[in-house]
Amino acid sequence: MSAKLFESITFRNVTLKNRIVMSPMCMYSCLDQDGKVTNWHKTHYTSRAVGQVGLINVESTAVHPQGRISMEDLGIWEDEHIEGLTELVDLVHEQDAKIAVQLGHAGRKAIVEGPIYSASPLPFKEDMKKPEEMSTEQIHGAVEDFKNAARRSREAGFDIIEIHGAHGYLINQFLSPLTNHRTDEYGGSKEKRFRFLREVITAIKSEFEGPIFVRISANDYHPQGYTVEDYVDYAKWMKDLGVDLIDCSSGAVVPAKIKPYPGYQVQYSDHLREQAHIATGAVGLITSPMHAEEILQNNRADLIILARELLRDPYWPRRAANELNVELAPPKQYTRGW
Ligand SMILES: Cc1cc2nc3c(=O)[nH]c(=O)nc-3n(C[C@H](O)[C@H](O)[C@H](O)COP(=O)(O)O)c2cc1C
Repeated sequence: MSAKLFESITFRNVTLKNRIVMSPMCMYSCLDQDGKVTNWHKTHYTSRAVGQVGLINVESTAVHPQGRISMEDLGIWEDEHIEGLTELVDLVHEQDAKIAVQLGHAGRKAIVEGPIYSASPLPFKEDMKKPEEMSTEQIHGAVEDFKNAARRSREAGFDIIEIHGAHGYLINQFLSPLTNHRTDEYGGSKEKRFRFLREVITAIKSEFEGPIFVRISANDYHPQGYTVEDYVDYAKWMKDLGVDLIDCSSGAVVPAKIKPYPGYQVQYSDHLREQAHIATGAVGLITSPMHAEEILQNNRADLIILARELLRDPYWPRRAANELNVELAPPKQYTRGW
């Protein structure tokens, strides 16, 4: 059997050596609360590159300090962040892996001091801060924040930008009817709820020529919320805007219960890939190489995105290669004693 998991794939000018992607995961490690890359980030991400992950997707990185998920988030809201991010990119490139950055704004889910913002003035939970409804001017400002972050991503040398449009953060707050009660040009219809993301994508593309991925929550798990069917239109519109891949996650828009099981989100990747004819990534409780291979061989996704399993085992791709009978070359430094 030739393993699809180890076949290369090209998005625009970027070729990934295999289909294994490290999912973005907040490391809460900017202990000085300045958003700057620390030694931890360098060790953590480079380890997975040594482990032969094809694409490292760096954790949600804040485009504005008030948009941080936590005060210890990575940041890309000012030019001072470029130096550390460049070092991180270079370390991962040295190990022959590609690297993406996930650009995020937490909106009403930001855990920061001071005011927080959202599409509508609705708190995520009773005991959380009430966000201010964003004015048109503030929305334009947020689009500009994503644009500047894209410029910094280019200057730091990132291969790919992933836009965080999932998990109930700011972009998701505009997309979902549960969290967007606006009646202006940014709400009131599906097209208008998409407008903020449309402007963010367009702004990012004006600064960054590489591939653009968008992570979405394909199910709100709420009777009045969106399902993957609703996301077919969004996926088509993203494709028309030149988005290269939809990273298919789900939930966390409102505090609804999810019952996860192995591959519980693969159905969303499968559906959007087929209905919107766009490349997709499957994520969520994928831990076994055979399962990963099944998803790819059955054309249910183009990329396999692993989160916790790569925390447990940074060398997962080596384990997968063993199980799928693929020979992986060791890092060249090992070859003398091999
Ligand atoms: C510690 C941790 C931090 C996470 N941070 C992010 C993040 O920054 N951005 C994001 O889109 N998802 C984040 N996630 C979700 C993961 O990327 C992934 O979608 C989820 O864990 C399901 O995949 P898994 O079953 O392989 O862990 C995080 C998950 C974990 C465990």
